[in-house]
Amino acid sequence: MNIDEFLELAKKRRSVRKFTSEPIPDGIVEKALDAAHWAQSGANAQPWEFIVIKDRQTINKMCDMIDAWMISTVWPIEKSRVREIRHRMVVDGPGEAPAGWRNAPVVVAMCGDPRTTQASVLVSQYLPHEGGTGAHSLKNMANATQILHLAVAAAGLGSEWVSVSYAIERKLKELLGVPDEMIIHTLIPIGHPANPPTAGVRRDIKDIIHYEKYDQSRARSADDVYNYLLTLRQKSTPAYKPGQSPK
Ligand SMILES: Cc1cc2nc3c(=O)[nH]c(=O)nc-3n(C[C@H](O)[C@H](O)[C@H](O)COP(=O)(O)O)c2cc1C
Repeated sequence: MNIDEFLELAKKRRSVRKFTSEPIPDGIVEKALDAAHWAQSGANAQPWEFIVIKDRQTINKMCDMIDAWMISTVWPIEKSRVREIRHRMVVDGPGEAPAGWRNAPVVVAMCGDPRTTQASVLVSQYLPHEGGTGAHSLKNMANATQILHLAVAAAGLGSEWVSVSYAIERKLKELLGVPDEMIIHTLIPIGHPANPPTAGVRRDIKDIIHYEKYDQSRARSADDVYNYLLTLRQKSTPAYKPGQSPK
């Protein structure tokens, strides 16, 4: 693969939030996980382990948990913000936010072992400005997660990055039998997209590359960031509500 092919893959990958129930070919998930486990990690700590879930009952239970949490916790907080910058998943009410990945043929639970942070004294003791020791482990997990998404896209399939809140994580660990010492970092439903891909939304590359020094003339004010979030929200509506035009 050359750089142009890689760029094309990076641009092509989209978050998919609704899947058909069509099964995916054997071996794809294992290859994608093989790729993911080649991710970079601080001091090569490799905190990741993966649970591949296909059982419908288990997947339904996971979706039920997340739906209930969206309704009881995310929506009441989200609605305290002005409508225009509310997350597109829940703009007008909790009823809008069912876990759309209920049909996904496979869900991968990205598990991690934070004890591996001890792989390096530097990592475990001296990087508080990076958000503390836990943050380092989370970055490692995020790297593996990103590679998994790219690998799935390379296979012509779709995947979603499903954040796992603290409250949901406790329940998921019980459901999946994950040891207390470990975390569930993310859930990744994988399958055939139910809707055509949406256009990706990214800032203009010219606005974000600086050469040699940060170009202060392009520094954004708080108002600029607010306005950016407003337009971002408008543009990203179709990613959460296919077929619905931005409003
Ligand atoms: C840390 C992190 C958390 C995310 N959490 C979620 C999530 O809970 N649900 C979801 O559908 N997408 C989630 N995403 C995906 C982003 O919403 C998505 O990458 C972004 O909107 C850009 O869209 P794209 O992936 O289609 O390019 C998450 C991504 C990251 C990196």
